Formats: sequence, C-alpha cells, structure tokens
Amino acid sequence: MTRETPDQTALAARPDPGSELVALFDALPAHVALLDDHGIILGVNEAWRRFANANLLANEAFCVGGNYIEICESAHGDCADEARRAAAGIRSVLRREVDLFTLDYPCHSPSERRWFQLNVTRAEGATGVRAVVTHFNVTDRKLAEEDQRQRANTLQAELLHVARLSDMGLLASELAHEINQPLSAIMNYLELTRFGLRDCPSLEASPTLGLIDKIEGQVARASGIVRGLRAFIERREPERRTVSLRAVIGESMSWIADFSTHLNLRINLSLGENEIPENIDRIQIQQVLENLVRNAVEAMVGSPDREITVKLEADDPARARVSISDMGPGIDPAVAGSLFNPFTTTKEQGMGIGLSICKSIIESHEGEIGFQANSPRGTTFFFTVPVVARD
Ligand SMILES: Nc1ncnc2c1ncn2[C@@H]1O[C@H](COP(=O)(O)OP(=O)(O)O)[C@@H](O)[C@H]1O
Ligand SMILES: [Mg+2]
Repeated sequence: MTRETPDQTALAARPDPGSELVALFDALPAHVALLDDHGIILGVNEAWRRFANANLLANEAFCVGGNYIEICESAHGDCADEARRAAAGIRSVLRREVDLFTLDYPCHSPSERRWFQLNVTRAEGATGVRAVVTHFNVTDRKLAEEDQRQRANTLQAELLHVARLSDMGLLASELAHEINQPLSAIMNYLELTRFGLRDCPSLEASPTLGLIDKIEGQVARASGIVRGLRAFIERREPERRTVSLRAVIGESMSWIADFSTHLNLRINLSLGENEIPENIDRIQIQQVLENLVRNAVEAMVGSPDREITVKLEADDPARARVSISDMGPGIDPAVAGSLFNPFTTTKEQGMGIGLSICKSIIESHEGEIGFQANSPRGTTFFFTVPVVARD
C-alpha cells in the first residue's frame, strides 16, 4: 500500500476536466451547439436537447451529426427568412468575415409568444474552425419593448388630443371675444327700452319691467361666463371670494325654475339652514351647477317622472358638498369610465366637454367631483368645495 501525499489526494479527487466542461455547458440556460466548418453539429448542451425535444425538433438536423446550416437554408413557413439570414450569418462567421453574428427572431408556439436571440461566434482550435451557436430566450425583453411601444403610441394619441384641445381653446377664446360685443349691445338696448318705458304708467304693474330685469340678469351672467371662459382658457387662477354657496345655487336654480313648468320638471332644493361661507369663484361654480343640472334634465327627457334634487351639505368642517340627483336612466356603462374626459358623449348633438370643464373647475378649487347610481334609478353627481375657516 502506498501512502499518498495530501497533494496527490486533492488531485485524485478533482473531477475529469472534460466532464466539468460538459457539466458547465449543460448548466447554461442558453441553447448551445458547436458546428464544424460545414455546419455539421458536433455537440449540443442539455438546454438545446431539451428545447429540441419539447418542440418536436428532434430530427437529425437538430441533433449531433445534422447539418444546421442546410436545415436553416431549406426552412419554409413563417420563419423562413430569419432561418436563411441565420444560415448566412453562420457562414460569414465561419469564413472569418465577421466575429459575431446576432439575430432576434420570433419563435411562437401554439400556447405562447416567444422570441429568441441567436448569437454565432467562432472558435479556432487545432482541429479547425468551429462556430458556436447560442440561442437565448429574450421574450421578457421583447414584451417590455412592445409594451413601451404601445405606451409611446398612447402618449402620441394623448398629445394629439391635447393639440386638439388647444385648438379648441383658441376657437373658444375668439368666440368669447366675439360674443362679448353683441352682449354689450343687448345691455345698451335694454337700457334704452327701460328708458323708453319710463313714462308709461300702464306698464308700472305689468310683468314687462320684471322680465327686462331678468333679461338683464341673464345677459350679465352670460358676460360673466364669457369672462370666466377666457380666464379659464388663459389659465388664470380662479377669482376666488368668500361667497355663500346657498346663494349661488339659488341663482342658478331660479333660471331653471322659470322653465320647470314647460319642462314638466319638479325641483327639490335642500340647502340647509346654516349659511356656510365658501371660498369659490362664483361664475365658475355656477357653470358647474348649470352643466350638471342641464345633464340631469337632458337625461330625463324620455322619463315620465322628472325630478331634480339639489342638496347642499357640510361634507366635513373643511368642505361643503353639493349633489344633483335625477331620475333618468343612469350612466351608460360604455362611457362610465371616461365620463370626465373631453369629447365623451352619448348624445347626438353633444360636445362631451361639459363634465371635463366641471372637473377642471372643481380640481382648480381643490375639490372633488364624482357620481353614483341612485336606487332604483337615476344618477347623483356631486362635488365638494373648500369652506372658509371661521375663527
Ligand atoms: N345625469 C346624467 N345621467 C345620465 N348620463 C349622464 C348624466 N350626466 C352626464 N351623462 C353622460 O355623460 C356624457 C358626457 O356629458 P357632458 O360632458 O356634459 O357632455 P354632453 O352633455 O355634451 O354629452 C353624456 O353624454 C351622458 O352620456
Ligand atoms: Mg352636458
């Protein structure tokens, strides 16, 4: 029996370098094959074998001894072009024209979408020139790229949309400017009419003078809306003042109340007893109220029961909440998710910008706007605005 030195023991325990190399290749997640200078497969690793078996490619062309270049050149079907490019790439590496050839290609199976990257490099040894062919699964990267492309497309669509909005803004600004002129003229004619009627005693008790007051009030409001619209387009901050929201709601609803008989509409106001001072832009909040009320009225056109309830409540000590409920058919589920986006409408003549303007106004007041379905039918739109803190 010979005593071995510690060094000899260590040497004997080391695995055969050949099998260690094989184990290394077999441990690689990429599919690797070694080709000779004609494209004949000299060896493949475990991942290559597994992939070939799983994808029914276990014919001789994909196993040791098969000619990989030839099978690529004779491929047909969806991937024929890529296969031919791969063959040409392998040839150019073997001819030493390039050191590395890379190709991304789709390889979808019936159950999943997959992409691979082919890499071909050269190995030169005593036995001649060899090509090392590697396939990596790059599906995650490809899906991420596709996702990014889709996002870029969405962003582009949004930018186009913003451009369209800004065109509309310009149009509205010009319109606002033009509308101001006839409004001033109407005011002047009303003044003249009032002046002309001054000496008609028979008119004292007639409703005509009251109607002129109302017309004047509406023209003043229209001027205010036009001013507000221009301020809104020019992105000026809202002109916030401490105002009674009860009074603002009262004013807005008196206009609709004048037409309620004609519209066969019942109006319930529940404005509470307590005066709550709010920090709001009066004209803008009137615009919101009127948009919501108009939508409610329009929603009930086909309903036999037409009733609107407007409620003012203290949401919490810092905010007041206004809600407008109707008895219409409810929100069409097709538009429920995009109701506050511009140009969302289900009406033949609708512009679809009323709710988007409401949202901008309420958000510029640091409030919230939303809606909920009523039981058994109808919808409630609500918004909140900040309350002025009382000392
Ligand atoms: N009270 C409501 N009941 C049912 N649907 C409503 C109501 N308010 C708004 N909607 C829906 O929201 C859409 C967008 O409203 P809006 O932005 O004011 O634009 P428009 O009134 O021009 O259609 C309407 O077309 C309608 O489908
Ligand atoms: Mg509307």
